[in-house]
Amino acid sequence: MNLVTIDRAYRVHIETFGCQMNEYDTELVRSLLKARGFTFTEDRERADVVLMNTCAIRENAHSKVYGHLAELKALKRQRHLVVGVLGCMAQNLKEELTETEPLVDVLAGPDSYRRLPDLLLQAIEVQEQGLKQRGMAVELSEYETYDDILPERTDGVNAWLAVMRGCDNFCSFCVVPYTRGRERSRDPQGIIRETEHLVAQGHKQVTLLGQNVNSYQFDAREGARLGAPGAGGCDWDFARLITAVADVPGIERVRFTSPHPKDFPPALLDAVAGHPKICKHIHLPLQSGNDRILDLMGRSYTRTEYLDLVDGIRKRNAEIALTTDIICGFCSETEEEFLDTYRVVQDVGFHAAYVFKYSERKHTIAARKYPDDVSEAIKSDRVVRIVDMQTGIAFRINQEMIGRTIATMVEGDAKRSSSQWKGRADNSLTVVWEKDGSRARPGDLVPITVSRASVTTLFGTEAPA
Ligand code: SAH
Ligand code: SF4
Ligand code: F3S
Repeated sequence: MNLVTIDRAYRVHIETFGCQMNEYDTELVRSLLKARGFTFTEDRERADVVLMNTCAIRENAHSKVYGHLAELKALKRQRHLVVGVLGCMAQNLKEELTETEPLVDVLAGPDSYRRLPDLLLQAIEVQEQGLKQRGMAVELSEYETYDDILPERTDGVNAWLAVMRGCDNFCSFCVVPYTRGRERSRDPQGIIRETEHLVAQGHKQVTLLGQNVNSYQFDAREGARLGAPGAGGCDWDFARLITAVADVPGIERVRFTSPHPKDFPPALLDAVAGHPKICKHIHLPLQSGNDRILDLMGRSYTRTEYLDLVDGIRKRNAEIALTTDIICGFCSETEEEFLDTYRVVQDVGFHAAYVFKYSERKHTIAARKYPDDVSEAIKSDRVVRIVDMQTGIAFRINQEMIGRTIATMVEGDAKRSSSQWKGRADNSLTVVWEKDGSRARPGDLVPITVSRASVTTLFGTEAPA
């Protein structure tokens, strides 16, 4: 491929949709583009290039992106503008996007970002010559982990750090294995070095990311045979990795998302429960509380196994907050089967539950094998019933925090007022308090005595240290 050289600093505006992995990927893309002389703007109107890093998980994720693309049409009529679609929708809907969206100049999937700078420069050149030609990079890779690329991070407190990419689980409803390809893990030594670098840059918290973060696996012996760095002659699993990251001097907090309930060996539970730097929060997606539906979903655990895992977590440390994801109205789900889910959510007492209507996705096993036969009205009704019940539970759990003093990491200004700080408790709850008289700075850990609590937020005052 021709390497096109840059003759002025083209301004790029990036919009990110979807999960934390996409936010991390946007940081990788910023790094790759910066290295080739691109600059960035928050203002879409001033951009030479607009990139959308997209999500494909549910239909409303698609709709959002189509909405933004429609807005760009008017802008593109007035002047030169290169439009790029990145991420999961680019990977999954390449044909559809190229047929129906003539304004898209560049498409790049999650494993193809190294090619993006050249594709953009070519698109700019082609457009300046008054021509039209689309650039596409949508190959999935079994190896790409962007190990050597240091993301251009914008958040000073938390740093996202992808430790593995892709997913081999093929849950029948889920598009991720098709948009992000096969599971692959990064070399642990590279991850530890990057954590040390993050500490040197002032980050206090690192969040380890993976579509299936706890199936992280790296065989250093194989690495040794391949001559890769980090050859230590032993195997690494997620328990070992997260402990090693949490042991890096200067790191105050380590979080991780998203784990799968099938990969929680005792060593991992012990690490989360016992290591002072690993946050006391586990996001444990349930999806359904009915065994027939779980089996149809391909989740590989039963209701009882899930509840046993919850018990195992709470026996080790009752302070660990649990959150979950639920899908309502999956193919053929009856009212009785839905009620099984309702009861599990009621019995476990999650700190928060993210509840979704089942949304059929192209290419998935469910789309090929099972009719999407629960009506929209029933799906919505089931979502509302769980959300209503969960709201009451979260409110009650949070009330129990009143009067306690909790270590809170300052993140920045509160959403509603810059005279208040917003921070996060160890268990991930949002905490808000008045700045008045506070000497705290983002990244600091401060003791907050809770005086009031809502469904999602704790309010309090800074206690004397
Ligand atoms: N890797 C994570 C899931 C990431 S997707 C895991 O296994 O937990 C985040 C959530 O989106 C999922 O947990 C699921 O609840 C929801 N989701 C995924 N596909 C969906 C679909 N087709 N319809 C509705 N919700 C879906
Ligand atoms: Fe999707 Fe299942 Fe993989 Fe999660 S584990 S990303 S839900 S296929
Ligand atoms: Fe969406 Fe892709 Fe993440 S589908 S949830 S952006 S992995």
